[in-house]
Amino acid sequence: MEIGKIIKKNKINEKEIIFRYPKIEDVDDLLKLINSLVKEKAYITIQKQQTKKEETEWFFKNLADLLNKKKVMIVVEIDNQVMGMGEIKVNSKNPYKGELGISLRKEIRNLGIGKELIKELLKVGKKELKLKLVLLYAMAPNKIALHTYKKCGFERVGEIKKGVLHYGKPLNQVIMVKYL
Ligand SMILES: CC(C)(COP(=O)(O)OP(=O)(O)OC[C@H]1O[C@@H](n2cnc3c(N)ncnc32)[C@H](O)[C@@H]1OP(=O)(O)O)[C@@H](O)C(=O)NCCC(=O)NCCS
Repeated sequence: MEIGKIIKKNKINEKEIIFRYPKIEDVDDLLKLINSLVKEKAYITIQKQQTKKEETEWFFKNLADLLNKKKVMIVVEIDNQVMGMGEIKVNSKNPYKGELGISLRKEIRNLGIGKELIKELLKVGKKELKLKLVLLYAMAPNKIALHTYKKCGFERVGEIKKGVLHYGKPLNQVIMVKYL
C-alpha cells in the first residue's frame, strides 16, 4: 500500500472529495477527528479524548500494519483536511477475515460518503489483502450505521445483549458480516 496514494476522487455539492491512503501529515487531522467524535459521544469504542502522543503512537503502528498488509486504511480528504477514515483490520489467526470500522466528522455525514468509503475499503480488502469475509460490531442504537452497513451488503448475524459499554451504559452489540 503506497503512503498517501489517491484511490478515488469525486464531487459532492461542488466540493472535491478525495479517498486516499494515509500519510504522516494526517496525524493532527486524525486527532481532531477522533476527539470530535468523543466530544459528541458517538457510538464508537474510544470514549476518552486522545492526546497527540497517543494518536501518534496509534498512527505509526497503523502505518506499519498497512505496509505489512495487516490492515487497509483509507482517509477522506476535503479542502486539504482529513474529515473521515475507515479501516479493515486483518484477523491475525484467520487472515482471510477482517474487521471494519469507520468514522466521519459530523459535518460530512449523510452525503453518501460513508457508503462510498466502505465500498472502497472492501474493494482494496478483497484485491490486495485477499479477504474473503468482513465483519463488524455496531452499537444497537446506532441506526445510521446499521442502515449504512445494510445498504453496503452486510447481513446482521447476531446481537450480543449488553455486549458493549457506551459511557458506562451497557448497550446491545450487533454483529454484521459480508462475504466478498
Ligand atoms: C456511520 C457513518 C460512517 C455513516 O456514514 P454517512 O456518510 O453518514 O453514510 P451515508 O450518507 O453513506 O448513508 C447514510 C444512510 O443512513 C440513512 N440515515 C440517516 N439518518 C438515519 C437514521 N436516523 N436512521 C436510519 N437511517 C438513517 C441515510 O438516509 C442513508 O441511507 P440511504 O442510502 O438509504 O439514503 C457516519 O454516520 C459516522 O461516521 N457516524 C459516527 C461514527 C460511527 O457511528 N461510526 C460507526 C461505528 S459502528
